[in-house]
Amino acid sequence: MRPYSAARDRFIPETEAAAIIAALPIAIIVVDAENRIRDVNPAGEQLLQSAKTILYGVDLAELLVADSPVFGLIEATRESQSSVAEYGLIVEGPKLGHRIVSAQSSPIGEPGGNIVLAMQELSLTAKIDRQLTHRHAAKSVSAMAAMLAHEVKNPLSGIRGAAQLLEQTVEPVDRELTGLICAEVDRIRTLVDRMEVFTDARPIDRQPVNIHEVLERVRKLAQNGFARHVRFVESYDPSLPPVLGNRDLLVQVFLNLVKNAAEAAPHEGGEIALATSYQHGIRLAVKGSKNRLQLPLVVSVRDNGVGIPEDLRMHLFDPFVTTKRNGTGLGLALVAKIVGDHGGVVDFDSQLRRTEFRVMLPMAGSEGAE
Ligand SMILES: Nc1ncnc2c1ncn2[C@@H]1O[C@H](COP(=O)(O)OP(=O)(O)O)[C@@H](O)[C@H]1O
Ligand SMILES: [Mg+2]
Repeated sequence: MRPYSAARDRFIPETEAAAIIAALPIAIIVVDAENRIRDVNPAGEQLLQSAKTILYGVDLAELLVADSPVFGLIEATRESQSSVAEYGLIVEGPKLGHRIVSAQSSPIGEPGGNIVLAMQELSLTAKIDRQLTHRHAAKSVSAMAAMLAHEVKNPLSGIRGAAQLLEQTVEPVDRELTGLICAEVDRIRTLVDRMEVFTDARPIDRQPVNIHEVLERVRKLAQNGFARHVRFVESYDPSLPPVLGNRDLLVQVFLNLVKNAAEAAPHEGGEIALATSYQHGIRLAVKGSKNRLQLPLVVSVRDNGVGIPEDLRMHLFDPFVTTKRNGTGLGLALVAKIVGDHGGVVDFDSQLRRTEFRVMLPMAGSEGAE
């Protein structure tokens, strides 16, 4: 490479800088102090699903849903007068649908001036990649559960036996204490038992399963029990091929998701939407493997509750993560484990009045594809 010389070489002129911005595969949107669009590059036109000439001067509030996190990002930029970035931001509007992007927002010039937004849609692989880490979470749970079962449960039997022996010889006043030992031992044992489902590392027994039948069963169980107060809305793709799965375990998965949805839904006007769809042509490379994941069947459980607290999201599928007074925090850990055992992935999006869990599963007849 020949060295740069100030005499021979120039910086790229500004007119060409515009060409560079136009060529970027990143959506660039400039808004003024009132959030009206001042400029947008072709990738931005594509994201907003409109031509630049139409977008010019349009208020962002007309393009995005009212509670869009994009407004929060812009606000944070205005307040701090410095760049703010967010990964996994949901951009949603009547015309643009529902996208997940990584976004950066920076002030241009004086405080109170324009703001430039740079957004890049997360590739599906990146979204799924994020979710595949939940599988590792489930794996570490199984290791821990196996350890608990072995190291804790066995000694517990000994402790209980000893307490029962003592009971026969101690003074009646002390019997209360031996009784206490037994009761506490039983409580710990129940806890460990609950973890035991995670230790099962055997491949699951899978057959073609009609997922609508699974959902129907879950809905019935829910409506006659914990979800009496909510309205169910079903939107099923009747031509959906069977899932390659284990019926009982799938019932467990959707029961856990519907239970959380029912617990999150408001008491008045609570709604749970169950939906199935077929996703065409999705093949995902699995890290560290030559194989491809084919997960065309999508089942979603959506509720209109308050949404998932921000600080919970990173660890939502980890065991013992709960915000409920009597929660175990094992529901979603089990969902992640079972879906993972099916070779599927589970993903979620959450905002106020709209929390959706999406389970992607392999189709029957795709044996060996994984
Ligand atoms: N649909 C939902 N809406 C809002 N928060 C949810 C939803 N599903 C799960 N969560 C949050 O995730 C936590 C963990 O859920 P889970 O693993 O099922 O355990 P648990 O239900 O016992 O708390 C819940 O305590 C709740 O805070
Ligand atoms: Mg739960």
